[in-house]
Amino acid sequence: MGRWGAALYDMVMAPLERGGFQAIRKKLLRRARGKVVEIGAGTGVNFPYYTEAEHVIALDPAPAMVARSLPRTAHVAVPIEVIVANAEALPFPDHTFDTVVGTLVLCTISDPRQALCEMRRICQPAGTALFFEHVRVHHPLIGWLQDWLTPLWKHMAGGCHLNRDMLALLTQAGFDMTCIVPYYKGLFLVIEAQTSSPSMAPPLA
Ligand SMILES: C[S@@+](CC[C@H](N)C(=O)[O-])C[C@H]1O[C@@H](n2cnc3c(N)ncnc32)[C@H](O)[C@@H]1O
Repeated sequence: MGRWGAALYDMVMAPLERGGFQAIRKKLLRRARGKVVEIGAGTGVNFPYYTEAEHVIALDPAPAMVARSLPRTAHVAVPIEVIVANAEALPFPDHTFDTVVGTLVLCTISDPRQALCEMRRICQPAGTALFFEHVRVHHPLIGWLQDWLTPLWKHMAGGCHLNRDMLALLTQAGFDMTCIVPYYKGLFLVIEAQTSSPSMAPPLA
């Protein structure tokens, strides 16, 4: 996301945040424990909701987003470090983190499969993955609309795809879902998952 996208992001999101996203983020992120990494942290909107973690590393490839997130690392409950990095090539050794986090980000990443494999690699065995994402719904008409809108939408909304099957992507990357909570008639899902043992992870197609 460029300078203008970064400048407008919080303003565009504000009604959604007030209308329910803040409460969803708060409930989800208090589940983040130990050493935590957040991918695509954007303007740092999640930072105030980390209350139980030991340490958080938040990353985003867009320097303009990172710059906006930095002031939000002050006055938070746990230490938060922000770096410029890409989720498809995470600069950490295997099994570094207890919890991996992504909110409203798997829709935007160019190669979500690779990003999820990277998240799984850097997460402890039986570590926790926490997501809040919008997904392609099963309703035939709405699903079709999501497919139809995506080619235009992704150009207007910083690469956001409306029609990704996040649960399939997570399963393919070797995560076992432990809790799935639908919001807004299933358009959004809160997902808690665990890394499955390597032998259980199906190979990527
Ligand atoms: C829709 S914003 C979400 C920001 C924040 N996570 C939230 O919940 O509001 C998507 C973010 O993903 C970031 N992003 C795009 N491609 C990425 C990649 N390959 N790896 C990590 N983050 C990426 C963008 O720069 C942007 O900050």
